[in-house]
Amino acid sequence: MSPASSARSEKNIILTGFMGTGKSTVGQLVAAELDREFVDMDTLIEAREGRPIPRIFAEEGEPYFRQLEAALCAELAARQGLVIATGGGALVPEKNLRVLDRTGLVICLDCAPEVLWQRIGCSENRPMLAEADDGRFRRLAALLEQRAPAYARIAYHLDVTRLSPQQVARRVVERVRGWE
Ligand code: S3P
Repeated sequence: MSPASSARSEKNIILTGFMGTGKSTVGQLVAAELDREFVDMDTLIEAREGRPIPRIFAEEGEPYFRQLEAALCAELAARQGLVIATGGGALVPEKNLRVLDRTGLVICLDCAPEVLWQRIGCSENRPMLAEADDGRFRRLAALLEQRAPAYARIAYHLDVTRLSPQQVARRVVERVRGWE
């Protein structure tokens, strides 16, 4: 490997996108394929806090969780060669996107709301959907719409609506190899 390509392969691969798009599953597959370390931001936050995300939201409130996310983005930006799966809201603040974007390739996974609904409509551990028991689908669709401008800031997108995690992972790996 030339020094230039080896330096480039140190860049992070960051998977983001709405809840239920498969970031964590795909991230694990990509990390295994590229023999890289995988970091799931939500799992790391839960481990450090010693409590699951719904409890963090319930006991401390959303702003506290968002602070943890922002700090973790900055921390991970100091590292190289990682495959990172963010939480669905982690790169909504432009500052967090900018800090990680500098360190590698950010890919946003997109998915049709109906398919997201099939995947996460009944999920108990998604506090962002928990507030609207009477209209969870509407809440999901509204949140997706609200976040659209933030996701649109991301340069690379992959529509995962009709793809299995394995197919998505293959496309991510192809993109990473094409980019290196
Ligand atoms: C959130 C998404 C969740 C988790 C938290 C908040 C969001 O991660 O970080 O519940 O704001 O979209 P997943 O996208 O992995 O579900």
